[in-house]
Order: sequence, then structure tokens, then C-alpha cells
Amino acid sequence: MAETFIKIPDNYSGYHLSHFCVPKHYEEDLEDIMIPWGLIQDRTERLARDVFQDVKNEPLTALCVLKGGYRFFTDLLDKLTALNRSQASVSVPLYVDFIRLKSYENTDSTGDIRVVGGDNMVSLSGRNVLVVEDIIDTGKTMEKLLAILKNHQPKSVRVASLLVKRKSDSTGYRPDYCGFEIPDKFVVGYALDYNEYFRDLNHICVINDSGKKKYLTPQGSH
Ligand code: HPA
Ligand code: MG
Repeated sequence: MAETFIKIPDNYSGYHLSHFCVPKHYEEDLEDIMIPWGLIQDRTERLARDVFQDVKNEPLTALCVLKGGYRFFTDLLDKLTALNRSQASVSVPLYVDFIRLKSYENTDSTGDIRVVGGDNMVSLSGRNVLVVEDIIDTGKTMEKLLAILKNHQPKSVRVASLLVKRKSDSTGYRPDYCGFEIPDKFVVGYALDYNEYFRDLNHICVINDSGKKKYLTPQGSH
């Protein structure tokens, strides 16, 4: 039986930049292309089918975790709405909402988060919620978000994350739907950022040392 995600091994060296199109302004900042945009699309199509089959005719509230999740969210929703158009017997009414997670400042060690933006969380009561994330790193943030969501008594909560990173300090959390399990490298592109840069890159790429140095200063703090 195949695993429920695509596993990218530690010794995977990716695709050479010259084999695909990347913006000129990032050419010197990337090690390699880990997941080309087209493969993200194909994988997302399958995740959408899995979600569609699991929710079976019940309404679904898709909750986008900004900013990193926005591209995966729009592509996943496009594929879900395509299924709604093409399937005669199954149909999933979709609602959307958008949140950002902020860490509390000046609380140091706790690392607690708060949810900003989005409709009043009370409206999630009784809903089937699908949280859509770009990446699960240690799993701590997602576990905290799930605890917050559960306080608002949704009917169900499931999580779709495009990426899950293999981390030695992982909490062991696994999302319900996972696109790719990736090595412990810093990746950018397809809305994933490094200090707000690289969201305007289609492929998921590994940043190199010169890219890390060049974009060390967060945008807007100059
Ligand atoms: N890239 C971008 N954002 C992230 C990553 C990453 O590799 N890990 C956790 N947040
Ligand atoms: Mg994120």
C-alpha cells in the first residue's frame, strides 16, 4: 500500500534551475527546484478528490492560513469547484475564510498564537472545517490552531497541508491531507516566503546561502 503522501528523500537533489523558468531576480538565490509548479498542480488535484470524497455532500468551510497558504488554497479550491461542476451525484457547497496567525509578543517562551482576520470564529460552530496550510514544520503552530478552533465547536476539523517537513523536533503531528513530505531544508516559492521574498516564484525551491544573506533584512524594515 502506498503512503498517503509523496515522500521526497533526504538525498534528493531536485531539478536544475536552467531546466525550468524562474524569475531573473531570484536566479542567484536558489539551490535547486524541489517541486515544480506542474507537479504541485497534479498533486493538488488528487488531494481535492480525496477531500471531495470524504466530505460527501456536506457543506465545507475552507479556512486559508495566510500568507503562505494562499496559492495552495486557491488551487485546491479551483480543483474542488471543478469537481462540483463535473460530478452529477456528489456536491459540496463551499464557504471560504481567511486567517492569519500571530504570535503573542513579549511572552517569550510560551510561543502562543492568536488568530487575526477572518469572520467571527463563532460562525465555525457546527461547520465542517478544512484548514489549508502551506507547510507543517514542527507541528506546534498547527496543534495550537486546532485547539483554538475546537473551542468554537465545529462539527469536524480536518487539515490539508501541501508540505510536511521531516524535523527531529516534530511533535509528531500529521495533517489529514498532505501533498509532499520534504527534507529539513528551507524552501521558498508558491507563496512560501523568506522574510516576505520569494512568494512570487511558481516552483517550490531550496534557497541558497547567498539568497539567505541577500534577503536577511525583512521588507519594510529598511
Ligand atoms: N519555508 C518557508 N516557511 C517556512 C518553512 C520553510 O521551509 N518552514 C516553516 N515555515
Ligand atoms: Mg504557514
